[in-house]
Amino acid sequence: MQRVKTAIIGCGSISNIYMESFTNGKFNIIELIACSDLDEMRMRESAEKFGIRAMTLDKVLADESIELVINLTTPAAHYPITKRALLAGKHVFSEKMIAVELEEGKELVALANEKGLRLGVAPDTFLGASIQTAKYIVDKGLIGRPVSCRASVSRNYGIYGEFLPHLYKKGAGIGFDMGGYYLTALAAILGPIKQISAFTEISGKSRKNTRVGAPMFEQDYELEVPNVIAAALQYESGVLGTLHMNSDSIIDERANLEIYGTDGILIMGDPNLFGATVYLQKTNSTPVAFPLTHGFAENSRGLGAAEMAWSIRAGRNHRASKEMAQHVFETMHGIMISAEKKEAYSLESRFEIPASLPEGYIGDGAWTRKEESALI
Ligand SMILES: NC(=O)c1ccc[n+]([C@@H]2O[C@H](COP(=O)([O-])OP(=O)(O)OC[C@H]3O[C@@H](n4cnc5c(N)ncnc54)[C@H](O)[C@@H]3O)[C@@H](O)[C@H]2O)c1
Repeated sequence: MQRVKTAIIGCGSISNIYMESFTNGKFNIIELIACSDLDEMRMRESAEKFGIRAMTLDKVLADESIELVINLTTPAAHYPITKRALLAGKHVFSEKMIAVELEEGKELVALANEKGLRLGVAPDTFLGASIQTAKYIVDKGLIGRPVSCRASVSRNYGIYGEFLPHLYKKGAGIGFDMGGYYLTALAAILGPIKQISAFTEISGKSRKNTRVGAPMFEQDYELEVPNVIAAALQYESGVLGTLHMNSDSIIDERANLEIYGTDGILIMGDPNLFGATVYLQKTNSTPVAFPLTHGFAENSRGLGAAEMAWSIRAGRNHRASKEMAQHVFETMHGIMISAEKKEAYSLESRFEIPASLPEGYIGDGAWTRKEESALI
């Protein structure tokens, strides 16, 4: 199989795990040859550490040998960089979310279709052992017919946001930054949402950064986006759900993600992780930890891009699809629009539930097949 020559744009916090997995043999399909960042020092440090080339974005886009661009920049740069890369004829895998404005996401989906290019979008945690096991449980009918679901997360963005200021800005906030993990996990199991009704708040709008060493130390700043969200979701299948998010709370976070069925309850762990324990509860019994049926239980960021690269070679649809990403993105925008207009929001976008990964590929390649075989 011919490896897919790839460049990563954005050498910040999340880039390390991607670069590691593409250079240490975890995902062989991707041949990482270059990286790029506006911050030249970061770019050179990453290039040196992983033995790849440091290149400007212009050079990456002009290099005909590069097939795939992985966009790991901050949310505001997702749309312009993904658009330029698609226009330059590259396949793109982007970190979440697909863009900042709803229309930008739509435009990117249409552009990729028009150009016949792949566009995949994180989060790829739904391809990890935990959510794939959860999907196995539902697909095998172990909770009966899904009837309702509940997702809830609380965090302290006073801490996270002072180091990563983009978390306070448009395009992020707990909704766009964290909502994607919960909504994507549910989307991959339950399918599309039809309608949303929501309330949002900005709790503690004006703040001062008191964290010594943080980029905005001693600066006053304002939250640009809601940090408290309460939404009711109606899935096309008839499932009803709630989403609660609060980033003006404490550290450590509390994550809840559950699907209630006619014959059982599925209790998933934090969907930001790849291998959180999944519990199944049946009538008159306590929740029981379910053995993970799938591979990729450890931190496997880059899995979605690698799966897309295998799909390009195999000529099949990739799983972290632009359609599902745009639907999740529209869901979060719909929550904001519903809260603002004080009326229900009906979603336009639809997607096909991505196929499950094959089960059982959990070996290290010595006694069983290598984990990456699940992606072929
Ligand atoms: N940090 C995490 O734990 C984490 C986890 C999962 C996903 N993500 C996602 O990954 C993305 C990046 O997050 P991060 O935490 O690594 O941010 P970061 O701020 O640490 O890194 C982003 C990098 O992108 C570069 N950049 C910004 N605009 C650019 C442009 N126009 N051209 C080239 N480079 C540009 C910045 O200089 C910076 O080095 C975000 O979409 C985020 O949601 C982050």
